[in-house]
Formats: sequence, C-alpha cells, structure tokens
Amino acid sequence: MTTTTTIDPETSLGRLVGDHPEFAAVFESLGIDYCCGGDTSLRRACTENDLELDTVVERLATTDSTDELAPAEASITELVDDVVETHHDYLRAELPSLERTVRKVARVHGDTHPELEAIEATFLELQEEVTHHIADEEETVFPEIRKLENGAPPTAPEEARIREAIAHLEEEHDDAAAHLEEIRTLSDGYAVPSDACTSYRNMLDRLQLLEADMHRHVHKENNVLFPRAERALESC
Ligand SMILES: [Fe+2]
Ligand SMILES: [Fe+2]
Repeated sequence: MTTTTTIDPETSLGRLVGDHPEFAAVFESLGIDYCCGGDTSLRRACTENDLELDTVVERLATTDSTDELAPAEASITELVDDVVETHHDYLRAELPSLERTVRKVARVHGDTHPELEAIEATFLELQEEVTHHIADEEETVFPEIRKLENGAPPTAPEEARIREAIAHLEEEHDDAAAHLEEIRTLSDGYAVPSDACTSYRNMLDRLQLLEADMHRHVHKENNVLFPRAERALESC
C-alpha cells in the first residue's frame, strides 16, 4: 500500500521514521542520517545534504508502507522485544562471522589494498564496543525500562540512574556511528574494486547491511524507545 500521508517538512527525521518505518530505506539511500541526527527537520536535512526538498517529499509520499511494527503504536515491552529480536540477535549472529571474513580479506588482499588494514582495525573496535553495548542494554537498562510500564514507580535514585544510563547509551551510539562512517569512507562508499574476489564482495555487502541495520537499530532506541521511557519517567 502506498502512503498518502501529508508530509510536513518541519517534522523531525526521527518522528517521520517513527510514524513511517518505510521511510528509513529512503533516507538510507539518500545518505540522510535519521538515527543519531533524528532531531533534524526534513527541510534542514535536505539543505545540509544538498537535496531538493520537493523531490524527497514526493519520493517519501509514494513509498510503499511495510508490515513492520509501527513504533508509535507499540508498548515499551513490544519496542524492547523488537530491538532485541530484530537487531541484537542479528548482531550476535553476524558479527563473529563477519569478523572472520574481514580478517581473511585483509590478510589476502592487504598488499594491494592497504585500506583493508584500517577497515579491519575499525571493524574490530566497533565489534567489541557494540557487543558490550547490547549486553549492557539487555542486562541493565532494558529491564529497568520494561518495569516503567508494568512495575512499581522508580525511586528518585532509580530514576536518576535510568536517565544517566540512557545518556551513556546515546553517547555510545554516536561512537558506533563514527566507526561506521569511517568504514564507509575507507571503503569509498563500499565500492567494489575491479580485482575483488567473492569474499571481498561479500565483505563489502555485509558491512553495508551492518551499517543500514545499525541505523535502524539506533533510530528505534534514540528516537522512539528512550523518549518513550523518558515520558514514562515524567509521568511516574
Ligand atoms: Fe540496542
Ligand atoms: Fe543501543
């Protein structure tokens, strides 16, 4: 089904993707940062990316909607479950396997493509940080956030701890985004070299998928789940 919703250019990117998950793929293809840059309005994002606002609005307006969970209508529990099952489980399965491919490609092609050494180092840092980050979310912050919907109101120290933890997670999201941007730059936008073997192509494809998935993941946390948790804290 094609959306017929009127799009207000002053609406933030995070809100637009929150209401219309299908817009994420459009922003991704245009290189618009809708996750860590989710507070930016559509109009400003177009200006900053040198894009014609009317063309982008037209493209969004004719994008088919998806069956994906609409975050604006979901409960906190549903949002947390979606993040864990869709994104954390993907990362736990994908990162160790992608690590083997990145190491192998760097070892085999490093002489002719010196940027592979930096891609490998950046990927390994990202992997370590993200692995720790998602475990931290699942073991400490998400259980606290779930309780905001179903449990007793938090005490003042608990509330302060949740707010501090959310701010810390958002900082880590910025770090992950910087690593992904570095990999994109080092690989010249995942451009496939003429001498690339199957493993090399496979590595570039999967790094690009990792980037897109991380953008969706961080968007759901920064622009939907955490603001929802903060609103729940305010109403306690
Ligand atoms: Fe997460
Ligand atoms: Fe996160």
